[in-house]
Amino acid sequence: QPVESGSFKWQSPSNIALVKYWGKKKHQIPANPSVSFTLDHCKTLTQLDFQKKKPGSDFDFDIFFEGSKKEDFKPKINTFFKRIERYCPFLKEYSLQIHSENTFPHSSGIASSASGMSALALCLMSIEKKLNPNISAEFFIKKASFLSRLGSGSACRSIEGELVVWGKHQEIKGSSDFFGIPYPNHVHTNFKNYQDTILLVDKGRKEVSSSVGHNLMHGHPFAEARFKQAGRNLADLNSVLAEGNLEEFIKIVENEALSLHSMMMSSMPYFILMKPDTLEIINKIWDFRRQSSLPVCFTLDAGANVHVLYPEKDKYEIFEFIKNELVAYCENGQYICDQVGSGAIQL
Ligand code: PMV
Repeated sequence: QPVESGSFKWQSPSNIALVKYWGKKKHQIPANPSVSFTLDHCKTLTQLDFQKKKPGSDFDFDIFFEGSKKEDFKPKINTFFKRIERYCPFLKEYSLQIHSENTFPHSSGIASSASGMSALALCLMSIEKKLNPNISAEFFIKKASFLSRLGSGSACRSIEGELVVWGKHQEIKGSSDFFGIPYPNHVHTNFKNYQDTILLVDKGRKEVSSSVGHNLMHGHPFAEARFKQAGRNLADLNSVLAEGNLEEFIKIVENEALSLHSMMMSSMPYFILMKPDTLEIINKIWDFRRQSSLPVCFTLDAGANVHVLYPEKDKYEIFEFIKNELVAYCENGQYICDQVGSGAIQL
């Protein structure tokens, strides 16, 4: 039956990769599998209002971010709509108004593309469900992840929690290059409510976008070795997660963060996204870990900010250390306390 108008609202979280996605093939197919923790507090809230219109040749939409109209967000969304049009044929039949806000400071250097694209994809799936009420909950979630991937690769890992795998891997049943799935194997309670304190070292815009970075993996002299390494790290992580082996977990996670950045430093053109304070923090974490034997480690995204990861059971001691020794390196003393979360929610 025809649907004239309506409105849907979703909140979707950001995620932090343990095994990193860096390098892609055509159609946003990842060059290697990756796995991430879904976050809990860093989220995008998106409301999509839609109204039937005469089918036209262009997409008809406006985007508002935290209350103000954003012309500069339109090209990215337009590219996204073009990519998904064949999977969402209703797109050109409606005028769309997208209202988004983030729960984290927008100029924080925290990428909002994962939370933002997944929230929008979920709103579009709600329209699809309205038009075709028979689609199953499983199809809804998988297709939302599939569409998110076409917006921003890592966004496909933001729909569900708590650990999500994206990219085909032999040892992970059901894994796919086309969408993320909840990590299906056993996870030890050591990883329950794992903590992520995000230290905002540099809140400026990234000098090199991740899409440029992914492209520089084509023809990169170390690309093939890197893709193999990611696959191996994910296989190793399987037993580490099952056994709750924090020592090995730390080794894999830090190795992945530094491998990601070493790919950036050895591409042509080369670039460095870490800042001096990123390295100061890493060294402080290593010193503290040596002295205290507490299982705290770091990971990095495509930027200078540091994600400090640690188990819930050690959270008071480790947070004291973070406050006393690491916050001084944050821009304006800013940081975000987050932890593993369970995925997107319809509001
Ligand atoms: O989703 P993109 O294209 O912005 O790429 C993100 C890549 C990293 O954040 C650096 C790693 C990852 O797996 O999330």
